Amino acid sequence: MERIGAHSHIHGLGLDANLEPRQNAQGMIGQGKARKAAGVILRMVQEGRIAGRAILMAGPPSSGKTAIAMGMAQTLGSDVPFVMLTASEVFSLEISKTESLTQAFRRSIGVRIKEETELIEGEVVEIQVDRSVTGATKTGRLTLKTTDMETVYDLGSKMIDQLQKEKVLAGDVVSIDKASGRISKLGRSFGRAKDYDAMGADTRFVACPDGELQVRKEVVHTVSLHEIDVINSRTQGFLALFAGDTGEIKPELRDQINTKVAEWREEGKAEIVPGVLFIDEVHMLDIECFSFLNRAMEGELAPLVVMASNRGITRIRGTKYKSPHGIPVDLLDRMLIISTGMYNEAEMREIVKIRADEEDVKIAEPALDLMANMATQTSLRYALNLIAPSSLLALRRKSPMVDIPDIKDAYQYFSDAVRSTAYAKEMAGMMFGEEEEEGEGGRVNGGMMVDPVA
Ligand SMILES: Nc1ncnc2c1ncn2[C@@H]1O[C@H](COP(=O)(O)OP(=O)(O)O)[C@@H](O)[C@H]1O
Ligand SMILES: [Mg+2]
Repeated sequence: MERIGAHSHIHGLGLDANLEPRQNAQGMIGQGKARKAAGVILRMVQEGRIAGRAILMAGPPSSGKTAIAMGMAQTLGSDVPFVMLTASEVFSLEISKTESLTQAFRRSIGVRIKEETELIEGEVVEIQVDRSVTGATKTGRLTLKTTDMETVYDLGSKMIDQLQKEKVLAGDVVSIDKASGRISKLGRSFGRAKDYDAMGADTRFVACPDGELQVRKEVVHTVSLHEIDVINSRTQGFLALFAGDTGEIKPELRDQINTKVAEWREEGKAEIVPGVLFIDEVHMLDIECFSFLNRAMEGELAPLVVMASNRGITRIRGTKYKSPHGIPVDLLDRMLIISTGMYNEAEMREIVKIRADEEDVKIAEPALDLMANMATQTSLRYALNLIAPSSLLALRRKSPMVDIPDIKDAYQYFSDAVRSTAYAKEMAGMMFGEEEEEGEGGRVNGGMMVDPVA
């Protein structure tokens, strides 16, 4: 079975060219004001005008804060970094809080590097491979042509393997990177359009190149500052990028990289692409993290920081003071705040419907009404969580469609937060519990913001 992420139905913010929210587009329903606000922010990011600023998305649980952040990520260009972090990930035993925030910051800043590469581009005339008697070594020749010239190149065994792997045939137009020897197939030459044997349904036809076989091309690729740090860190090396576990990076190295990147910028070789760092459940950060953020956002290389919180007035971790969303007021003061509100029943119905489609579950109309109603009584997330179990229950009674009884059953089998709380209270004394601590923990109160238990 395919596991489908909670936000896999979101494909963007669903805004039109004037940033007006469409009622149901790209998987997004309602929450128009917040979506438009997010769109305006993105426009500013794309114009490079909002680096080093912070946005807070504040609203009750399951009001679409994370969904909107995902929509933002999808709207950004493919080479603009979008890094997602849950505040609690910052606390790990391996690296310090500030190190992990620094890494997150640097992962959110792209460096667009322009490089000139030498390529050989032409149509394949012939590939000849000679095998030695033992078959252990291979040598060969590749004949390439443009409309103006033809040249024979010697091939080593690595190149031969690559040609075979890419299934390169006479009549293909190929491009070979001279530095790395990487071969890419650009398509079939028009000259071979009648050559049906070598054609698949997805064959792309291109013109045979003209002029010289050797061409210089500018290629652009974007890497993050963090990737540059890791690649240049002697103790890490680029393999650490794949392992994901990069450990601490020395500040001196970061300084060197910053200087280098500044040089590239001056020489016109590189451009900085400030991206977006999204910190979910931001009330989980403590005062040290917040003061780090405050300072880091003033640095020269800072991304747009988007934070989300579902807390009302709550204690700032690491202090005994309370503040809105558990964020120190000085930081709060420099943020733009986007609030998300509760959905009405019709909107919840639409969202449940989209999720059911996404999970390939068919739900009868009356059952959908029930789900929507249930979502208003419990929470949207609870209703969404019932889609999969009720579909299983429907299958058990050999029904192709989820109907009211399946949902009623699922509702019986799985408690929502409100019933679970009631149960916990009823069972007090029989379950292990802790005395309530002032300012810690929270409760779900009828879909409003989560406030600490007073
Ligand atoms: N406006 C919306 N349109 C479509 N799906 C939404 C919308 N808002 C929330 N969802 C979906 O509802 C679920 C809960 O929303 P989520 O964004 O996780 O809430 P929050 O982060 O505010 O607690 C997710 O599966 C999310 O994708
Ligand atoms: Mg969330």
